[in-house]
Amino acid sequence: MNQLDYWNSIATTKAFTADFKLEIFRARVPKDAQVLDVGCGYGRIMAKLWAEGYRHLTGLDPAHNLIRRGQSLFPHLRLLHQNNPDVLDVPGSSVDAVLLCGVLTCVVQDDAQQRLVNEIYRVLKPGGNVYCSDFLLNDDERNLERYQRFAARHGTFGVFELPEGALLRHHAEPHIHRLFAAFLPDCYETVVFPTMNGHTSRGFYLMAFKPGPGTGAKAKTDPAG
Ligand SMILES: C[S@@+](CC[C@H](N)C(=O)[O-])C[C@H]1O[C@@H](n2cnc3c(N)ncnc32)[C@H](O)[C@@H]1O
Repeated sequence: MNQLDYWNSIATTKAFTADFKLEIFRARVPKDAQVLDVGCGYGRIMAKLWAEGYRHLTGLDPAHNLIRRGQSLFPHLRLLHQNNPDVLDVPGSSVDAVLLCGVLTCVVQDDAQQRLVNEIYRVLKPGGNVYCSDFLLNDDERNLERYQRFAARHGTFGVFELPEGALLRHHAEPHIHRLFAAFLPDCYETVVFPTMNGHTSRGFYLMAFKPGPGTGAKAKTDPAG
């Protein structure tokens, strides 16, 4: 199944569940910030930010049906269909903060994930923040069995298929830190998230900066060279 077909097919039936750490975000991002939600789904996190007083919010998602659901639930939000999932149709160095919540789990290949994170780096202003949360590898029998079953087919331990057609990934922690190596780390915590299918999974949230004036240090790798 085409993965976009999957996300379109569940658009009216699934609720996305991973907690958003509002207090962590609010402490670092002022209310007048330009915030971009990449893979915004039906806009549930943007709706929380709107309720907090954030007004400069844009959400992008490649699944038409999720955008439509969000536009009908939250007509006051700016939710836009993203034509090309590999490119953020946003000028470089133009946003103050980017959200990337539960998106890496459905962009399973290392190189596609890194391209997405590099796009986030490009669109952030120097000194801007990224907030990312996603799923980590679990060590229970049900998960280990499916990681092993699908590792040969997909080439990565932690990638698995759901019977209804979704291809998803749970991540090793060092992989997450490598993806964000160009950023300056700010906070990182592991948590347990509810999943959209009624289970729980280990997960993380992180905040990190794009280096810039006032951030006081250079990151190890600049993806722009
Ligand atoms: C689990 S949902 C999370 C939605 C939202 N961030 C939330 O937490 O409520 C994953 C979202 O990623 C979107 N997505 C899938 N592939 C993507 C890509 N390459 N770039 C951006 N978003 C993508 C899906 O359409 C879906 O809306």
